[in-house]
Amino acid sequence: MTKPLFAGCFILLLLNVGDVECRGHRGRDEDDDPEYKLFVFGDAAADTGNSPHTGGQISQGSRAWYYPYGISDDDNDNRPSGRFSDGLVQSDFLARILGYDESPPPFADYRPRRRSNSVDPSGMNFANASAGVWYEVPKVSEQVDQFTRLVNDGAITREDLEDSVALVAVSGRDYWRITDSNDNIYTGMFAFLVTEEMVRVVKHLQDAGVGKVLVNTLPPLGCTPATARSAGYGRCDQRGNDLSDAHNKYLNEKLGKKDGVLLLDVHAAVNNLLGSEEFRQQRSRPCCEARDARNGYCGQPGGSTMCRDPEDYFYWDDRNPTSAGWKAVMQQLQTPVMDFLGIQTRNNL
Ligand SMILES: *[C@@H]1O[C@H](CO)[C@@H](O)[C@H](O)[C@H]1NC(C)=O
Repeated sequence: MTKPLFAGCFILLLLNVGDVECRGHRGRDEDDDPEYKLFVFGDAAADTGNSPHTGGQISQGSRAWYYPYGISDDDNDNRPSGRFSDGLVQSDFLARILGYDESPPPFADYRPRRRSNSVDPSGMNFANASAGVWYEVPKVSEQVDQFTRLVNDGAITREDLEDSVALVAVSGRDYWRITDSNDNIYTGMFAFLVTEEMVRVVKHLQDAGVGKVLVNTLPPLGCTPATARSAGYGRCDQRGNDLSDAHNKYLNEKLGKKDGVLLLDVHAAVNNLLGSEEFRQQRSRPCCEARDARNGYCGQPGGSTMCRDPEDYFYWDDRNPTSAGWKAVMQQLQTPVMDFLGIQTRNNL
């Protein structure tokens, strides 16, 4: 898509035809929409290649670099790319809303050159699948440190930040270990502290000069396959859902009315989709399932099974949505994002 557009632009420029703007965006040559740079923070919901390979050894943590991850990803040769999905993830679909083909490149691929250390014009993705917010390390705040170092080095300029948008995509790693806790006071305090740290992250981004910040609400934790497996995937676990409800309540109180911040209601979108025609057949059942619930993982050699058609499933593995799942979530959120950012052109996701 991008290359023919560029070639066409180039020819028009040579012919010196009037007011031609040449931008490497899909459908961006005819509209006045702001050209946003995207900076991405968070966990597996948004990571497009920052989690480590661990030297050719497949493991729970490095599984996104191995089959069958990426099998539906036509844009990346149907090969694993470090995304925790059969295809694209949330940051890719957000990038499409902004007019790009996919997420800006991962920080892991950043190689400053001697003549120019500037980052890709589309922005940069710092999200790291293994990240937590307050309890789990590495923390999302470390990604913000990576970002601010690039700002201080001049690799990301004031100009870059003028029309910039950040995504903070947190899906709840901090809560994994306490999903079976029955202590409401403890879990409430926990959610208070996690969201407090998220407020700090947002503040640091705004202090660094980011104009607009999108913050995910937490998806219903009791509906993720890892939690719903014990009930045969047929229904969600109430304890797990109580945790995400507590988190989202605080998030709304603390960030819901903040200037320059939009809460992206991933929670509502996922809830809608789990009960919908599109994915209803399978509910919380993942497409790729480990035989051993405790120690196994999707892609484990000889230890996992894969469904026939990932498009029928909302969940891809025990924690993460399929590409079709993320696409459907972002289709639901496209209008609020466009309104918030003042984007007129509705791109196909
Ligand atoms: C992502 O986090 C892991 C730690 O779990 C770390 O080893 C890796 O370097 C991080 N990736 C980047 C690009 O910083």
